[in-house]
Amino acid sequence: MTSSLHPAVFLDRDGTIIEDRGHLRSPTDVVFYPDTVRALQRLQEHFRLFIVTHQPGVSIGILSAAEVLQVNEHVVAELRRHGVAISEVYCCPHRREEACACIKPRPFFLKQAAGEHELNLARSFVVGDHPHDVALADHAGATGIYVRSGHGARHRTELPPRTTIVAGIREATDWILAYREMQRQDDGDPGRLDRAAGLLRNSGLVAFPTETVYGLGAVVFDEKAVARVFEAKGRPRFDPLIVHVSSPDQLPLLVGAVPAAAQSLIDHFWPGPLTLVLPKAPQVPDLVTAGLPTVAVRMPRHPLALKLIERTGLPIAAPSANPFGYVSPTTAEHVVRCLGDHIDMVLDGGPCTVGVESTVLSLAGPRPAMLRAGGLACEDLERVLGVTLEHAATFDRPTGPGQTPSHYAPRTPVVWASPGDDFRPGARVGLLAYRPRDGMAGFAAVEVLSADGELREAAINLFAALHRLDALSLDRIVADTVPETGLGLAIMDRLRRATGKSSADGLMADQ
Ligand code: TXA
Ligand code: MG
Repeated sequence: MTSSLHPAVFLDRDGTIIEDRGHLRSPTDVVFYPDTVRALQRLQEHFRLFIVTHQPGVSIGILSAAEVLQVNEHVVAELRRHGVAISEVYCCPHRREEACACIKPRPFFLKQAAGEHELNLARSFVVGDHPHDVALADHAGATGIYVRSGHGARHRTELPPRTTIVAGIREATDWILAYREMQRQDDGDPGRLDRAAGLLRNSGLVAFPTETVYGLGAVVFDEKAVARVFEAKGRPRFDPLIVHVSSPDQLPLLVGAVPAAAQSLIDHFWPGPLTLVLPKAPQVPDLVTAGLPTVAVRMPRHPLALKLIERTGLPIAAPSANPFGYVSPTTAEHVVRCLGDHIDMVLDGGPCTVGVESTVLSLAGPRPAMLRAGGLACEDLERVLGVTLEHAATFDRPTGPGQTPSHYAPRTPVVWASPGDDFRPGARVGLLAYRPRDGMAGFAAVEVLSADGELREAAINLFAALHRLDALSLDRIVADTVPETGLGLAIMDRLRRATGKSSADGLMADQ
């Protein structure tokens, strides 16, 4: 009975949960990644956690077994201090030449763990920053996730095609939890992905989860279906759609040449919340691009989105699955409530883990230009591009009339929590607070975006909080501002639009 067996996550140590700083001899050498504790706390709600590490320094004589043990014990103790239980640490001390049984990617330790801890390896995951970690998962019948932290950036090209690649332990955790949700829903309805792909191939509309928001998909080359997307959303035809791919290999279907800057961004940030605007290939219908000579493309990170595109066999054009101008959906339930009657199927993949739409960057002009702040921080893009990004306001905007400031707006009026606005509490007034603060009493309802004032968490909760407040039919929603760094830029952009006061200095509107 596999159902009584536990799923597990096997974590590589150096470069995955702690910084890779060469041979670690003592606890003082250990530096955890900032996201590790929170990520493992989330994982352990559903998975047994193990560490599987390779320390060949021992057999070379650079490290002693006692030093390695000491470091491992420290890692486990630190995690335990934060409520994270590591069931076991497995360590191979051998060099590759020794041809031991336990070296990665041999599944020795995973099999051992499966026997001793009653694990279901088919429902387990391996996370690591080396291609061996991915191969290890394969050999054990588990699912591998490659992180770009540690050595990850360097060995990327050695990975087999279709490897799941994410930035770090936090994104790996998001992905694993989304994958688990997908498996759970598939168990209940094993045919749903085939049905969804079949609908798409027959001009159907399928709403599906991405890591940012839910999308409303149609096959990009099917103009009849794409036209239905515009109708279902009530979206004007002058506003172009984003096309979703399951692999950069699909780019030649959509764009001409891929410039070097685009390739570098793809290497760094795909799959993920980054949309690139590039000169389009002739076969992309004008309806999709609203007649522009460019097309917006992204590879989402949600496993269900990737599977759906793969199964359909063609790129999928998809705007956010909300009525034009309304708050974007971050759960399947939001989609059903807002658009349910107009679409053929909604795939449920759980709540979105980024929560705001993708960052849209144009590489079609003389200089890279940010067209929309979104789920990938502007600072991350600038680091890779080596330039300070110009925002769309300084450019001629590609879409004209779509720039109305009220996009993303709930039906309830939103005002700022500042003396310039009527921000006082009241029986018919809701509060959208960034973090817990003074003056939260007296409101009809209060939504706190992040208990610790963490911008990424605030982004995840933003749209769901707006949906909830909007459902109460209040007179007014009072919103706090958030700092405009990292994801704060995207949050403020959406909030400005919700207040209807985004001005000409705003980034491009989203619909
Ligand atoms: O995270 C996301 O991007 C979500 C999920 C579903 O992937 N999609 C999304 O799509 O937000 P949508 O249609 O709501 O927003 C697309 C944005 C719009 O602001 C649109 O004007 C812009 O991308 N866009 C699309 N094609 C473009 C092009 N060729 N040139 C400039 N902007 C473009
Ligand atoms: Mg949208």
